[in-house]
Amino acid sequence: MIIRKSLPSDATALYKLEQELFCTENFPLSRGSFVYHIKNNLLYVAEINEVVVAYVLVLIKRSNAKLYSIGVSKLHRGKDIAQKLLTTVIQEIKALRFSKLLLEVRIDNKAAISLYTKLGFHTLKRLKRFYLDGCDAFLMELKYVNKKLYSSL
Ligand SMILES: CC(C)(COP(=O)(O)OP(=O)(O)OC[C@H]1O[C@@H](n2cnc3c(N)ncnc32)[C@H](O)[C@@H]1OP(=O)(O)O)[C@@H](O)C(=O)NCCC(=O)NCCS
Repeated sequence: MIIRKSLPSDATALYKLEQELFCTENFPLSRGSFVYHIKNNLLYVAEINEVVVAYVLVLIKRSNAKLYSIGVSKLHRGKDIAQKLLTTVIQEIKALRFSKLLLEVRIDNKAAISLYTKLGFHTLKRLKRFYLDGCDAFLMELKYVNKKLYSSL
């Protein structure tokens, strides 16, 4: 498995993966959005046998970094791919001198909440009816990087 920065030529593969990961109500990104984010934000992919099987997207706005999305193809879940992708992007954010990384997550997304908690995120607050279907979100933050945890991955 290879983790690398995305390239403009990944846009179609990312769009296909997005269709598998997120249904319409979750506003899957369009191919054009991927083209934009590859150019303007931090987007890393995981590749197995030259196939893109996962990605992570962090939006960079002035002094803020926000984890917008992370997803792993169903076939490849439970192999630490999300953890490795997130660790890679956290290291990059640190290198870019952002002091924290924020994200919102559905309160019913147990796998994602567990992943974020494992990597050191903590909940700042609960956002009522944040999603269109009425589901609440947790606003989570990672303020610093625990070197021991990340160097062991
Ligand atoms: C959430 C998601 C990205 C995890 O990807 P993954 O590669 O399978 O996760 P990893 O193998 O790296 O697991 C790392 C940690 O995440 C948590 N985790 C992952 N899958 C889990 C599950 N099904 N149930 C509970 N915790 C889970 C665990 O803490 C795990 O650590 P552990 O193995 O020591 O228990 C994946 O399930 C996914 O793509 N879901 C659909 C998209 C999504 O909901 N994205 C998040 C919101 S944008």
